[in-house]
Amino acid sequence: MELKNIFYFYKLKKKLMNNLFDEICVIGLGFVGLTTALSFTNKNFKVIGIDDNEDVINSLKKRKILFNEPFLRSKLIKAIKNKKIRFEKNLDFLENKNYIFFICVGTPVNAKSEYSLKNLHQTIDLIQKKIYKKGYIFIKSTVIPGTTKSIINSKIKNNNLKICSNPEFLREGKAWEDFNFADKIVVGYEDEIFKKISKQIYKKFNTKVTFVNSITAEFSKQLSNAFLSNLISFSNNFAILGEKLKYVDIKTAFNSLRLDKRFFGYPALISSYIHPGLGFGGYCLPKDIKALSKFSKKYNQNSFFEKIVKTNDQIFNMHLKKILKMTKTKDKIYILGLSFKEGTDDIRFSKSIDLVDRLLKNKYKNLILCDPLSYNNLINYYKLKKIIIKKIPNYEKNAFYILSTPYKKYVNFIKKIPKKQVIDTRYMI
Ligand SMILES: NC(=O)c1ccc[n+]([C@@H]2O[C@H](COP(=O)([O-])OP(=O)(O)OC[C@H]3O[C@@H](n4cnc5c(N)ncnc54)[C@H](O)[C@@H]3O)[C@@H](O)[C@H]2O)c1
Repeated sequence: MELKNIFYFYKLKKKLMNNLFDEICVIGLGFVGLTTALSFTNKNFKVIGIDDNEDVINSLKKRKILFNEPFLRSKLIKAIKNKKIRFEKNLDFLENKNYIFFICVGTPVNAKSEYSLKNLHQTIDLIQKKIYKKGYIFIKSTVIPGTTKSIINSKIKNNNLKICSNPEFLREGKAWEDFNFADKIVVGYEDEIFKKISKQIYKKFNTKVTFVNSITAEFSKQLSNAFLSNLISFSNNFAILGEKLKYVDIKTAFNSLRLDKRFFGYPALISSYIHPGLGFGGYCLPKDIKALSKFSKKYNQNSFFEKIVKTNDQIFNMHLKKILKMTKTKDKIYILGLSFKEGTDDIRFSKSIDLVDRLLKNKYKNLILCDPLSYNNLINYYKLKKIIIKKIPNYEKNAFYILSTPYKKYVNFIKKIPKKQVIDTRYMI
């Protein structure tokens, strides 16, 4: 055999040995499933598309799509022409093959406002019965956090079957772009094999894969959708209030909101407001939302605003409780960042100050406050109290460090010290 051929066969053998699966099988061929299936064919994978609705299968075989979604038809024609896809109503697998499954069946919400997992469970039961070799399931359908874990614990009896969560974030009308040029791919797994498989299948998509556990992946999907519905309900809450107040030009009010420089990245990106922490503080936000909440009561439109105020108290109390549980009154505690946000020396109505006050009330004696800009304000505010005020924290083996206002240098500092000494209210590490 020529050297060239030996090299070719060696490469082929290596490739086959590294391949953890032979075929991709997509179950449920709606917006998510068909887009998933055709995107993989477009990256040269062989795909079996399965749907239990005969009309769906028959029309796809005839190159017809029963819903409207740009790009999919031409990709469907191409995939069928290149024999990259075949459509089946039933699951039937070859004995000598390992499969990857993308489950994209519907998860409608029932009358009790709970996801109906009937389709998902049915699909998993079927796969379990029908696979001969290995099967790796990616759940793309949207579910409540904890669903994948509970399926693993209660449903899976076949050791050859592994499951992970891989929520889908695409938008209808932009499904092709969103899948193929995704801003994020999240894979939540309990079994390490999914890291290898995900790298193999997603490497051609040029999007970084975020690996987490399955409950975090499911949580991320809920976070994303709830964020969007919240934005719309937030707007509508104001529209209802505006209608009730009369004479409010709702259109212009919303147009002026959309002109906010923060949407365009200056002075800060609006996304810098999307973070958990001790709660919002400062001179404006707390007082304004309280006043609006009280005022809107007259118009029965207060519950949304009241919830904003309540959540601010709830999160503060949650962190305080955590701190009181983790530390003792004699412990040395550094509080990192005292102004109500970065880049200002204003400590009025800062949640970090509230925290210091509550710790003092709880008889904590060794507090060290660190802030790069608020030194003078802190000296004035705490002049009668025995508190150390500094700009830069020192590392001490037995101290605790609470990150409250996340200056970069403080975040970098807590990244370098043992986690058990850190209370990160901003979830930065
Ligand atoms: N539509 C979106 O924009 C979007 C985006 C992200 C995530 N999701 C989630 O993805 C999942 C699918 O959404 P969709 O919009 O593609 O739904 P869809 O209703 O368009 O498609 C679901 C398909 O699954 C098929 N199906 C149902 N049960 C089946 C079974 N047991 N076996 C085989 N096929 C079965 C149906 O016949 C249907 O064709 C849902 O959980 C949804 O919440 C949807």
